[in-house]
Parts: sequence; structure tokens; C-alpha cells
Amino acid sequence: MTRAIPLLIFGTILMLAVGCTPDHLMSTFDPLGPVAAEQKKVWDYVFWAMVFVFVTVLPALLYMCIKFRRKEGDPIPAQVHGNRNLEILWTVLPIIVLAVAAVPTLNVLRFVLEPPANSIQVNVTGHQWWWEFEYPELGVKTANELYVPVGHPVQFNLMSKDVIHSFWVPKLGGKMDAIPTRTNVMWYQADVVSPEEGFYGQCMEFCGTSHANMKLRVHAVDSDEFDQWVEDQTEPGPEAEELSELAAQGKDHFENLDFKATYTDGSVSQQRCAYCHTVEGLGISGARTGPNLTHLASRGTLLSAMVDNTSENLADWLENPQVMKPGSRMPNPELSDEQTAALVAYLQSLK
Ligand code: CUA
Repeated sequence: MTRAIPLLIFGTILMLAVGCTPDHLMSTFDPLGPVAAEQKKVWDYVFWAMVFVFVTVLPALLYMCIKFRRKEGDPIPAQVHGNRNLEILWTVLPIIVLAVAAVPTLNVLRFVLEPPANSIQVNVTGHQWWWEFEYPELGVKTANELYVPVGHPVQFNLMSKDVIHSFWVPKLGGKMDAIPTRTNVMWYQADVVSPEEGFYGQCMEFCGTSHANMKLRVHAVDSDEFDQWVEDQTEPGPEAEELSELAAQGKDHFENLDFKATYTDGSVSQQRCAYCHTVEGLGISGARTGPNLTHLASRGTLLSAMVDNTSENLADWLENPQVMKPGSRMPNPELSDEQTAALVAYLQSLK
């Protein structure tokens, strides 16, 4: 039985370690930009320093345990408690080891905290449980999916609307907290075009019920595609006459329909989509309790990158947000099937 415990610990470590392969979507061992690459260098440096400590200290320890173990008839050995030389030695040695690790750590910290002057600005606001993104110089407001041009630095100004969140896209760089009442600054740069679904990101600070569901994606695209994306994102939402009959009905519901909304705690109120969500050009603007939906249909995912953006998923979400994303601030709306279908048609027209 006692042998089972070390085996269990070893097995667990092995399983966790196998999860750290470079091809994993959230792996830090496959850096695809300068920030991630510099941070990985620190990891490599500290790792090999620790390997050196391990392979020198452990054999010496084992040797001494075996060589000097107590034998039959041994007298009590000389006591070294309070030995000044030893005390100095084992105080100074760890200080040297930590100082050696501190030099590259502080260098990289400075590198990460000082974005290049030509960085594109992105204001990131963490909400329970989604990411708000604003490009103040480009006039883009969006949520949960970022676009960045390949080879260009992007500065993130991290804020929070409620509790502490943490912004992290492992292939592009390390994580940083988004804290209410202050702005933390960091930057990433993607050196390669992202796969179709983008690079995966995740909130890394426990922030409540749906913390694990607070994901994001970063699409790294060439500069032409980025410019096109910015142009598309700064268009207002479609006018009613550009929409199908069903979608036009949905637009009207979005703006004007009062429905009964039930919250997680059982409380009930009258709500409208437009009270919490913005669609630019609708007349109501600036609501940011929920994500800006002006170009919802241009995103590949819904529910902060939890599910693919399909009409079925969107209808499921409208019918029962509390099941799809437990604890969500989106109340369960009381809508007829026709109203849901019209809203889905409208939202999917927001390209
Ligand atoms: Cu936001 Cu965890």
C-alpha cells in the first residue's frame, strides 16, 4: 500500500507532463511571437539551472544517506546544530541560485511591460464572463475574438468591470491580471498567421461560476486582411430594408420587445435585448452589460468562444442561457419560438 502512493504521484505527474506537448492548443512550449519566445527562454534557463541543482544535490544526498547511515553499535555522532559555517553556506547558496534566476526574469519582465511605440492599442475589459475589446484608434468595438496583424505589436490595456480576471493566449505570451480600478499594460505580437479558428485564450483567474467558460480567440491575419476586417467592423448594423422579413422582425424585437427575464437567483424583471447589448446604428448605443453585437455574425464563436457560431447554438443560447453558461448575467428570456427565430435571423445578419 505504501508503495502505491509514490506510484500514484509519479503517474499523476506523468499524465500532467504529457499535457504539455507543443502541439497542444494551449501550450506555452510552442511560442509564436517575441513575447512568448522571450518568456520561454526564461523557462528553459531556469529549468536547466534546476536540472543542474537536482543532478548535483540528489546523488550527493543519496551517497551520504547510504554511506553514513547508522550501523549497529555506532556511538551518537558529533552534533552540528548551530554550526556557523554550515548556516552561512546554506543561506548563501540559495541566494546565489535565486539571483541567477532573477537576472533573465527581470530582463524579460521589462521587455513584456514596455510595448513597442508603434503598437496597435487594444483596451481589454474583463466581464463576468466575457471579454470586451476596443481598438480606440481604429474605432472598433467587439468581444471575445480579437484580430491582430501578423508581425505587428499589439498593446493590451487590461481593465475589469467587476472582479479580477486574467488575460492569456499561451502561444503569444504569458498571462496578466485584469483588475478593477486600474489598468495593467502588456503586449503580444503574432509572428505567424493563426489557424482558421484562431489562437486559443482563456481567463486564468478564478472569477466565479463560469470562469472556465471565459475563453477567447486571437486571429492573426496579414495586414490586408486586418485592414479589411477593421473596415467591416466599423460599419453600422444593417438597415431594416436590407434585411429579410424575418430578420427585420428580429431587429424590431431586439430594439423594442419587452420580455419577462428570469435571473439565476430567481428574480424576475422586464428586459429588452438592447438594454444590455449594443448594435451600432440602432439608435440605442453604448450598452455594455453584454457583448457588443454589431458584427456578431462575423465571429466564428459564441458565448466567449465556448461554441461555434451557428443558428442552432444561437437559438439554444437565447432559449436557455443559464444552462449553456451557468451563472451567466444573461437572464432566461420568455420568448415564443417565432420571436426566437426572428432574433436569430437578425443576429445572423450582423456580418
Ligand atoms: Cu474571468 Cu476567470
